[in-house]
This record gives sequence, C-alpha cells and structure tokens, in this order.
Amino acid sequence: MDFDLDQTDALLSTTRAVRKRLDFERDVPNEVLLECLELAVQAPTGSNRQGWRWMVVRDADKKEALAEMYRRAGGDYLKQAAADADTGSQTGRVLDSANFLAEKLGEVPVLVIPMIVGRLEDPNVNSAAGLLGSIIPAMWSFQLALRSRGLGSCYTTLHLGLEAEAAELLGIPPHMTQAGLLPVAYTKGTDFKPAKRPPVSEITYLDTYKNPIV
Ligand SMILES: Cc1cc2nc3c(=O)[nH]c(=O)nc-3n(C[C@H](O)[C@H](O)[C@H](O)COP(=O)(O)O)c2cc1C
Repeated sequence: MDFDLDQTDALLSTTRAVRKRLDFERDVPNEVLLECLELAVQAPTGSNRQGWRWMVVRDADKKEALAEMYRRAGGDYLKQAAADADTGSQTGRVLDSANFLAEKLGEVPVLVIPMIVGRLEDPNVNSAAGLLGSIIPAMWSFQLALRSRGLGSCYTTLHLGLEAEAAELLGIPPHMTQAGLLPVAYTKGTDFKPAKRPPVSEITYLDTYKNPIV
C-alpha cells in the first residue's frame, strides 16, 4: 500500500491539544465517534487482551459534575501555575489554555473517558506499562481519527485524582481503570501547525546513553 506521506505526516505532526478552538455549539454525532473508535481499537494491547472500554458522556448534568471534579482535582494547581508562568512562553500559553478548558469543560459537546479492564494492584514499571500501555495507544489513535475528520480533543488526566468519584457518577465497576478524559468537539478551523520540539538527534542514543546517535 502506498500512503500519501504528505497527508499522513501532516496528520501526525499537527494533531494538537485543542482547547480554545473546540466548537461548543456544534453537535458531535454518535456515528462519527463510533467510526473513530473503530479505528482506535486497531491499536495494540498487551497479550492482545483488547480490554479497552469507552464511556461517552453527553448528559449535561454529568458533564458538569465531571468538570467540577476536574477543577476540584486540578483547578487550583492550574490557576496558580498559570499565574506564575510567563505569559509569552509556550508553557504560559499552555497553562492559560488549560485553565480555559477547566472552566469550560462542562460545555464541551462530548466527554469521552477511555477505560481499560484491570487495576494496578502491585504497581511497578512493567505492570503500569502493560495496563496503561494497552489503552494509551488507542486513545491517541482516536484523537488522530478525530483530527482527520475535522474534530479535535485534548488528552487530559486531571480528573483522575478523583477517579473513584467519577466511577461512582458513571456506574463504572471497580475492576476498571480510567485512563484520562478526552473532551471532543469539532474544531474552529482545521489549520493546526506542527509544535516546536527538540531535534530528535539530541534525545536519541546509539547503543549506550553516553553516545548520541549523531
Ligand atoms: C499524560 C498527559 C496528561 C495530560 N493532562 C492534561 C490535563 O489534565 N489537562 C490539559 O489541559 N492538558 C493535558 N495534557 C495535554 C498537554 O498539556 C499537551 O499535550 C502539551 O501541552 C503539548 O501540546 P500539544 O499536544 O498540542 O503538542 C496532557 C497530556 C498528556 C500526554
């Protein structure tokens, strides 16, 4: 199969954390979500366990309750960090945008909570990588599929500080782990750009950590 590299590279390099450009007014049909989730579950899972589960939240009261938890779990941190940050810096802009999302989360058309079957009973790097590594690739594929259809999202984890409370609200059984919360909406415009990142040659090593690849 010949991929259109311009298109695939553009998708991979311009799928941003979208917050201020989420369109709160436009409905997101279930069909679009399900189409994107069909693509998401092509992602790999440890031992091919396929334990992904997805909670789609549309109910206004439940969305506002999740937004309130999100703010209670992380809002103070966000406000303080935004106040302390240099507004001209990339980090300052991210925090300002993150604050905006925290305030408006309940107004986003759809909140999607990706879940994985299982709990981290005995946390170590291997078990954590196995459990969360079986849902995070699917989350990102979902976000890529959204982007290719004119929608946007933002990977968030702040509400997980109150994971049990969110589980209670949504009837999620105790053997499930929530991996984050993805606000989903059409985006205002689609002209997102690649982000500034360090050159990979400076963060890639050959054979030993002492040896940069180039
Ligand atoms: C593990 C993880 C947790 C994150 N949690 C939050 C969050 O709780 N709230 C938020 O607004 N953004 C969150 N983000 C989004 C990051 O702030 C964002 O990806 C980063 O600033 C880079 O922006 P970009 O994705 O547009 O390149 C999270 C991202 C990751 C990968």
